[in-house]
Amino acid sequence: MNELARQLNTALENTITGALLSARGRRIYFPRGIVAQSAEAKEQAHKLNATAGIAVQGGQPLHLSPIRAHIPDLSPEEIFSYAPTAGHPRLRELWRREMLEKNPSLKGKRISLPIVVSGLTHGLSVLADLFVEPGDMVILPDLYWGNYRLIFEDRMEALIRTFPLFDEAGALNLQGLAKLLTPRSAQLSAQAAPPAGSSRASSGERMSAKVILVLNFPNNPTGYSPIRAEAEQLHALLSETAETGRQLLLICDDAYFGLFYEPEIYPQSLFAEAADLHKNILAVKVDGATKENLVWGFRVGFLTFASRGMAGQEDAFQALSQKVLGAVRSSISNSSTLGQNLLMRGMQAPNYEEEKQRMFGILEARYRRSREILNKLEGPLRVLPFNSGYFLCFDTGGVSAERLRQRLLRSDGIGTISIQDRYLRVAYSSVDLENLEELYGTIMRRASELS
Ligand SMILES: Cc1ncc(COP(=O)(O)O)c(C=O)c1O
Repeated sequence: MNELARQLNTALENTITGALLSARGRRIYFPRGIVAQSAEAKEQAHKLNATAGIAVQGGQPLHLSPIRAHIPDLSPEEIFSYAPTAGHPRLRELWRREMLEKNPSLKGKRISLPIVVSGLTHGLSVLADLFVEPGDMVILPDLYWGNYRLIFEDRMEALIRTFPLFDEAGALNLQGLAKLLTPRSAQLSAQAAPPAGSSRASSGERMSAKVILVLNFPNNPTGYSPIRAEAEQLHALLSETAETGRQLLLICDDAYFGLFYEPEIYPQSLFAEAADLHKNILAVKVDGATKENLVWGFRVGFLTFASRGMAGQEDAFQALSQKVLGAVRSSISNSSTLGQNLLMRGMQAPNYEEEKQRMFGILEARYRRSREILNKLEGPLRVLPFNSGYFLCFDTGGVSAERLRQRLLRSDGIGTISIQDRYLRVAYSSVDLENLEELYGTIMRRASELS
């Protein structure tokens, strides 16, 4: 093992991060190679800098004018240079400041400075690299963003275990989650048939104190976020779980953070409470500008860490950051400079907040209109609880969701997503307000024909 990796592991010894790292995570380090030496030179090489692998003339990156012409307001440095591996320092500060404003419960808690990743997907992959070992249990609700399976199960060989997202009453199914979180039931579920949505055989699952929980609210595909009472119960459950000795990596996928349309929704990230909940919990906030700032193709996301057990241990925080940087450096090296700089300019513009509010208003109007239409519409489909985000989901009951999807596509030119042949996801976020009535009307009509 590399000496730098060994030193980082020593700094993380006896911390929750150290306990959760995978074998690959233990091997990872951020080398003192080209990137680190270039960063040093940027600060100190006042005469000539012959470090980084870019081409420079007169202090500016050499560049092609037909490209530069399209981005006249940014300097060539802001467009063409490499960004630091951890991301642009000013952007990281801005993102942290916004996070603190939007999550007042974080006040006074030690959180890491967000590290820039190339979108949330990359952030999740970095976490998987650092923390997921083949055979580790990853807990998800049964309705989840499909890419989790590719990342955690197919790529990293983890065992996905799911619980039904909603209980019979249509509330967040915390009992179902509790069953998977407690070691005893985990053992039982290892012997039982795999739960719905889990394809991998349960044989060979090993009992371990370690558990990885991915919570994504507003949820993709349902568009549900916990109401305040549910969030409180969830915090209590996490705390109780940690108290039993389980070591928990809590991944809060906040891709759609802030798109909360109802006043009873818990208005903060679950990360805010989890940040100092228990020494056995390492909480990670995976978020980004992708959906929050409507820059899907910019590829700018962030990873932010916190744990009660690591508060006051600055060397452990540093070591964890170095591990993340090593995972970024060894996968994509660094994230888009142009994306980061455009975002940063936008975030500092005087009309930034106002514009964000305006966009929120557009999406909220679609949400309200969807509710209004669906309240009146009769048919064989049942809409699952939704109150936030981009989506809603129909339970198609006896109708094959895949057949319905194909019928809508072929006969009506309407695109939707079928999930598990039982649910139809509708991204009302991408349909103009005036077309929603036709959208839902056609879906229900075709479902009636197929039922
Ligand atoms: C829940 C969830 N997480 C993460 C992502 C990926 O975000 P990004 O495009 O930044 O990789 C998505 C995108 O659809 C998502 O729905």
